[in-house]
Amino acid sequence: MKLSTNLVAPAVLSLLASSLSGVAALTASRRATTCNGHPELCDRSFGNVTFVGTHDSYAVGTNSVTVNQDYNITQQLNDGVRMLQSQAHNSDGVIHLCHTSCDLYDGGPLQDYLTGVKTWMDANPNDVVSLLIVNSDNLPPSQYDTVFKAAGLDALAYAPDSASLPASGWPTLGSLIDSGKRLVVFLDANADFSSVPYIIDEFTNIWETAYDVTDTTFNCEVNRTKGDTSTQMYLINHFLDKIVVGFPAPDPDHADTTNAVSGVGSLGQQVQTCAGQYGRNPNFMLVDFYEYGNGSVFQVAADANGVSYDPATPVATPKMGSSSSGSSSTGVTTAPANGAVAIQIVPMHLAASLAVIGGVLAGALSVF
Ligand SMILES: *[C@@H]1O[C@H](CO)[C@@H](O)[C@H](O)[C@H]1NC(C)=O
Ligand SMILES: *[C@@H]1O[C@H](CO)[C@@H](O)[C@H](O)[C@H]1NC(C)=O
Ligand SMILES: *[C@@H]1O[C@H](CO)[C@@H](O)[C@H](O)[C@H]1NC(C)=O
Ligand SMILES: *[C@@H]1O[C@H](CO)[C@@H](O)[C@H](O)[C@H]1NC(C)=O
Repeated sequence: MKLSTNLVAPAVLSLLASSLSGVAALTASRRATTCNGHPELCDRSFGNVTFVGTHDSYAVGTNSVTVNQDYNITQQLNDGVRMLQSQAHNSDGVIHLCHTSCDLYDGGPLQDYLTGVKTWMDANPNDVVSLLIVNSDNLPPSQYDTVFKAAGLDALAYAPDSASLPASGWPTLGSLIDSGKRLVVFLDANADFSSVPYIIDEFTNIWETAYDVTDTTFNCEVNRTKGDTSTQMYLINHFLDKIVVGFPAPDPDHADTTNAVSGVGSLGQQVQTCAGQYGRNPNFMLVDFYEYGNGSVFQVAADANGVSYDPATPVATPKMGSSSSGSSSTGVTTAPANGAVAIQIVPMHLAASLAVIGGVLAGALSVF
């Protein structure tokens, strides 16, 4: 009897050992090996990665002072954008993504936009994506929560352990991906960690440089924060505006140089300035017309992250030719299929357009 137990024990132990190594192998195989396109990024903290973001990602169209992008968010994500910034407004009790005002530009319901993000993320399981939502009407986070749930996106959203984290306190991209919580959602105002923990307060976690800049200097001074800028992540607003009838508006004519890797007013130059000033690269770089520069914004991000960038990577082609302005339409109001209203302006005829947009812009600080 004693003999048989002695014989059984090693067998049990070896069975146990092999099943344990099976578990270990399973765990290892579930570990993401490529994160946001690069194996090197898997072990990097989310707070130590530079991401390209689209300013007003939902404001898509051509020849309008109210749009900031040529391509929709699906194309933006396909091309490599990993932060989508948007402006949320209350439109008769429904959250819509509008530009300054829903009368000026209505990009449709937040829920449709989030459904698009969900579809893309489901098809791209090794990517971490961030959303930055400007809460223009100070809506409660519970109202956003309802919309995230309706789009099924709450299930992918990462909830940190506390309301604010230093840059070094964020999980790695690999662990966000492995946990399935690979959407990071920031709200600029009214976030409430105790009620909706995955809707993260922006300014206690991120500081920003100035926005609506019309000067190609693009300095790196702190413009907005509610936290300790020495430890927070930071975001640079690298989109150049021009003044249109007294208000700042997007400037696609200079987007090639604004988005460039180097040169006066370029994204690459601002990153170098900021890195020199603070000893670390920006975490988020918000740009307009991201595809201008033929992928240069992604080259800047890759350089900042110390990973390779293949210049042959396909990126969408700009829709508006630089310095085109050839169109003769002035103040034409179009109504796209989704119900959005876009006001077309040709810079040469601004005076004639003044009456068209004047009423809408009255009271608004800017076309931000
Ligand atoms: C987004 O844009 C792409 C072209 O870049 C187009 O094929 C696709 O249908 C668009 N998606 C939506 C939801 O409009
Ligand atoms: C922040 O930027 C805005 C827009 O450029 C500007 O109006 C404001 O004065 C800046 N605030 C600070 C504190 O720098
Ligand atoms: C990540 O850390 C490296 C090494 O300290 C640093 O050079 C780089 O600027 C950091 N990037 C960000 C976005 O913090
Ligand atoms: C953009 O990049 C692609 C891929 O390298 C290249 O074929 C194309 O000529 C470039 N276009 C411009 C305008 O530089």
